[in-house]
Amino acid sequence: MTTMALPSLLRRLILAAVLLLAPLVSAQAAETVTSPDGRIVVTVDTNGENRPFYRIEVAGKPLMTESRLGFLMADQDKLERRLKIVSAARASHDSTWEQPWGERRFVRDHHNALTVRFEEDSARKRKFGVVFRVFNDGIGFRYLFDDASMAPEPDAAVRIADELTEFNFASDGKAWWIPAGEWNRYEYLYENTAVSGVGTALTPLTFRFEDGTHVALHEAALVDFAGMFVKRVRGTHFRATLAPSGSSAARAVRDTPFVTPWRTIRISPDAAGLAMSDIDLNLNEPNKLGDVSWFKPHKYVGVWWGMHLGKESWESGPKHGATTANVKKYIDFAARHGFEGVLVEGWNVGWDGDWFFNGELFSFTQAYPDYDFEELARYAAKKGVPIVGHHETSGDIGNYEAQLEAALDLMAARGVKTIKTGYVTDAHNLRFRHADGSESREHQESQITQRHHLRVVTEAAKRKIAINPHEPVKDTGLRRTYPNWVSREGARGMEFNAWGAPPNGPSHVPTLVFTRMLSGPMDYTPGVLSLEGSGQPLQMTQARALAEYVLIYSPIQMAADLPEHYEQHRAAFQFIKDVPADWEDSRVLEAAVGEYVVIARKDRNSADWYLGGGTDETGRTTSVKLDFLDPGKTYTAQIYRDGPNAHYVGPTKFDIAIEQRKVRKGDVLDLPMAPGGGFAVRLVAGN
Ligand code: NOJ
Ligand code: CA
Repeated sequence: MTTMALPSLLRRLILAAVLLLAPLVSAQAAETVTSPDGRIVVTVDTNGENRPFYRIEVAGKPLMTESRLGFLMADQDKLERRLKIVSAARASHDSTWEQPWGERRFVRDHHNALTVRFEEDSARKRKFGVVFRVFNDGIGFRYLFDDASMAPEPDAAVRIADELTEFNFASDGKAWWIPAGEWNRYEYLYENTAVSGVGTALTPLTFRFEDGTHVALHEAALVDFAGMFVKRVRGTHFRATLAPSGSSAARAVRDTPFVTPWRTIRISPDAAGLAMSDIDLNLNEPNKLGDVSWFKPHKYVGVWWGMHLGKESWESGPKHGATTANVKKYIDFAARHGFEGVLVEGWNVGWDGDWFFNGELFSFTQAYPDYDFEELARYAAKKGVPIVGHHETSGDIGNYEAQLEAALDLMAARGVKTIKTGYVTDAHNLRFRHADGSESREHQESQITQRHHLRVVTEAAKRKIAINPHEPVKDTGLRRTYPNWVSREGARGMEFNAWGAPPNGPSHVPTLVFTRMLSGPMDYTPGVLSLEGSGQPLQMTQARALAEYVLIYSPIQMAADLPEHYEQHRAAFQFIKDVPADWEDSRVLEAAVGEYVVIARKDRNSADWYLGGGTDETGRTTSVKLDFLDPGKTYTAQIYRDGPNAHYVGPTKFDIAIEQRKVRKGDVLDLPMAPGGGFAVRLVAGN
C-alpha cells in the first residue's frame, strides 16, 4: 500500500458511503393522510423521475395506483417534472352545518386534511400546493396556485392548457357514463361498460370495481375554471382533461393567487353510500347570500308538456300556449291543488321562425301581445301562485347578458320568484360576446360559460329570485354557496319521453340516482300520469311515475302533466299533491346501480316519511324494514304500488293498487315492483 493509496481508498469508501446514504438524505418521506375512520389512506409523493403523484388504499387494498398530478401550460413549461415536496401540513375538522333546504337538514363535515407544497428544481423555482381532504366516504383534492412564481412573468395570468391529474384504478369493473364533449351535452342515455371500456366521460362518472367498491369521480366548487372531463388513457387508467375554450388556447386563465376546483372521489362499499355522501357539498364554501328564506322549496305546474306533445306552441299563432286565458287556467288549477308556481314558456318575443338558430331574436322584456304579463302578475298574486319565469336563450349568452338586468328586473316586478333558464344549442356552440365586441363559441363547461351562469345566479339573488338552468353547466355543489341556484337539468329529463328517440327506459332513473344525481338537484319534471308522450308511450308504470318524486331530488318539483290528465287520474294525483319538496333526512335503503333503488325521506315540515322505489325491466319485490320511523308512533302508510298485472309495456302500466295500512317502527312492508315499475308510500305520523 503506497502512501497515496490510503487516502484514495478512504476517498472511495467515503464516496460509497455517501452514495449509499444519498437516497436517505435527499428523498423526502412520502406524506400520508387517512380518513377519520382510518379506512382510506392517501399517499402523496414524487417518483424516481421527480414527478408528483398520489395513490389511494381502501381497507388495506389499493384502489388507485400511482396517479400523477400536474398541468400543461399554454405559455410556460408544463408543471410536472423536477418537483420535490418542500413541506406538508396536516389538519383535522369535524363540524355540522345546516342547509337552508336540501335532502337533509344537517350535514356533517368530518375529514382529515393534508397540504403538500411542491417546488420545482429550475431557475424559476415554481411553487404550488395540493390540499387533500379525506372523509370516511371519499376524497377531495385541489391545486393551490397561491404563489406568484406560477405566473410566467410578474403580473401575468396563469394560462392552463390542460390538466394532467390521473385516476389510475387498480382493477377493472363496471362503469356508468355519458360521453364528454359530444353535441347533445349531458342529454345522453348512460353507457354501462367495463371500466376498461370507457371513452372520454362527463362527471359524475360512476364505477363498481370487482371487489364491490363503488367510486364516483366528480368535481366540487367549479368556479372561474374550465369543467373537468375524464378521459380513459389505457386499461383502467384515466386522466382529467379540461373543457375547451372557444376563445383561447388556454382552457383556464387566472391571476395568482387562485385555487382550482376540487377533484372528488366518492368511495363506498355499496351504491347507497355513493348517493348519501355529502363530500361535494362539504368542499364548497358556506352560503354567501345570507338570509335566503325568501326561497321556499315548492312544486309547480306549467304551460310546458302541451308544447312537447305538439298540442300547444311556444311560438305565436293558433296553438300559442302562453296566452293570458290559458295561464289563468293553470293558475286556477295550481291554486285548487296547492301548487306554488306556474311555469310559462313561450311568453316572450323570439320564438317565431327557427328559434334553435336565432337566439339573438329573443327579447326578455317584450311579451307576445296575447300574454298580458301585468294582468297575470296581478291574478297570480291574488291566487297566491307566482308565475315561474322562463328565459330560453337558445345558447346566445351574449344576447341574454346584454338584457340580463332588465330581464330580471321585469321578472321581479311581476312577482316571479324562480326563473327557468335554457341554453338549447349543440355543445360548444354557446354564443358569447366579449367586452371588445368580438364573439366566440363556448362549450357548456368552458370557463366563460361557468362565469356566465354564476353571473345570472348572483344577479338573480340580488332580486330574491332563484335560478333553474336547463342545458346548464354541471352542478358542483355551488348551491351551498349560492342557495338560490336551486336546481338544473343536465341529463335526459322527462322531455325525452315526449319526443326522444328512444325515450328514457326503465333503467334510466335507477342509473341517474347514482350518476347525475350525485352532483345535485335535477329539474327532471316528473309526474306524467297519462304515461303518453307525443305518439310514444312512457316506459314506466303509473306507480313508478309517482316514485320519481322521491327518487329524484329537487327543491322545485314539477307536476308536468296537463291539468286535464290529472283530472283523469285523481287517485294517483293525490300523492303528487302530498309529497314535499324539502327534506329533513334522506336515506338510500337498497340499490344496485342501473337496476333498482329504494329511498326513504323524511319531510322537513312534519313527522311524515316518504318511500320511493323503482326498478329496471326486471320486476322484483323489496321488503322495506321501517326501522327509521319514530318509536312509539303509529303511522298510516298510504301505499301506491304496482297492481298484480302491471307492466311498463302495454295498457297494464295503469294497473296501480292504492291501499292503506297502519304501521310502526320495525314493521316490514313488502312492496312488489313490476317490470319498469315501482312504488310511492306516504307514512303519515299519528300518535
Ligand atoms: C329544453 C328544456 O329542457 C325544456 O324544458 C324546454 O321546454 C325547452 N328547452 C324550451 O325552452
Ligand atoms: Ca333539455
